[in-house]
Amino acid sequence: MKKINAAIVGTGFIGPAHLEALRRIPTIEVTSLVEVNQELADQKAALLGIENAYTFEAMLKDERIDVVHICTPNFLHFRQAKAVLEAGKHVVCEKPLAVKIDEAEELVRLAAQKGLVNAVHFNLRYYPMVRQMKTMRERGELGEVYAVMGSYLQDWLFLQTDYNWRLEPDKSGDSRAIADIGSHLLDITEYVTGLKITEVLADFSTVHKTRLKPLKDIETYSGKMLSMDDYQEVPINTEDHATVLLRFDNGSKGSITVSQVNAGRKNRLNIEIAGSKSNFEFNSERPNELWIGKRETANSQLMKDPALVHPEASALVSFPGGHNEGFPDTSKQMFKEVYAAIREGKQPEKANFPTFADGLRELIIGERIIESNKKQAWVKI
Ligand SMILES: NC(=O)c1ccc[n+]([C@@H]2O[C@H](COP(=O)([O-])OP(=O)(O)OC[C@H]3O[C@@H](n4cnc5c(N)ncnc54)[C@H](O)[C@@H]3O)[C@@H](O)[C@H]2O)c1
Repeated sequence: MKKINAAIVGTGFIGPAHLEALRRIPTIEVTSLVEVNQELADQKAALLGIENAYTFEAMLKDERIDVVHICTPNFLHFRQAKAVLEAGKHVVCEKPLAVKIDEAEELVRLAAQKGLVNAVHFNLRYYPMVRQMKTMRERGELGEVYAVMGSYLQDWLFLQTDYNWRLEPDKSGDSRAIADIGSHLLDITEYVTGLKITEVLADFSTVHKTRLKPLKDIETYSGKMLSMDDYQEVPINTEDHATVLLRFDNGSKGSITVSQVNAGRKNRLNIEIAGSKSNFEFNSERPNELWIGKRETANSQLMKDPALVHPEASALVSFPGGHNEGFPDTSKQMFKEVYAAIREGKQPEKANFPTFADGLRELIIGERIIESNKKQAWVKI
């Protein structure tokens, strides 16, 4: 089978995660990468074993490249995704799809016009237990959704000295915790329940009103140590923590809390969905388990096992029961679906994977959440 050639733009934290996932699928070859400058691109290409270290423009001109993965800071997604589509290549873009709604709308329109495959890396949908919850809900095993309670907690911005481009609105957008991790949680909420969020009431807090910005560049999660002379104190305008009340289109209610300052919570998405037949709880730090609550019989803990989950979920399982799968597997499973469409040469009419339209949806919800926090009032989506 002919290999599909891919390029990766941005090789900090998540770019190499895309690379590793793609390398686990035999029909894909990552031939090229792009970095912020040629020197870094050459270094990263040698480190990661990638043949071509290109400038962005040179990469666009290489006709052998079929698909481009955009793994750069948020403010670059729109202009880079647009240029890739205009060059006639398929795109897998990191979340958020853009920083403004009108940019995301333009990308949705352009991708449809060009007929190219477009995906946004909402990879957390690809935990088999998330697909299992969705499938159980579709089969009526959850019942009517009564309520949703979600949280996404991290601690990597816990200290005043923790710093990253995500703290700068010109690079990250006007929201931080909601855009960065809340977007995954809101995506999963609608994906699993099949409901649409219709109204939001948000309350943000910025725990560190100023932070100590390193005067040298550091990559996300790299954990490098600096001395006090290497820092400058800067004001912070985006949220470390947010709580949002949700109203859904079936009349039910929910809430989410997101935080990047909860000590000890490394990267914990937790969602509990109460239905009229069962109650589901999923925690991304224990992704091989799904808790199913019952009123009249014993509660159960489903362990990931391809023989025990529905076929839609076992399609996302590569190993037998007891062989744990985790975060790196979610991207592999997602790319299998995206690249099946790329092999067909066009976006499926009803894509199973998260598309630019889903990326736009998250931006709309995110902007309404920011507006609600500013007004301290309910805002309609
Ligand atoms: N889906 C997920 O689970 C997930 C997880 C982490 C990050 N992300 C998203 O991925 C994106 C990148 O995040 P990260 O944590 O990897 O950031 P990072 O800072 O670790 O890496 C960003 C990389 O982009 C490079 N870069 C910057 N400007 C560039 C340019 N003009 N051209 C080419 N490369 C350039 C940087 O040098 C760096 O290597 C963000 O949008 C973030 O929201 C998604």
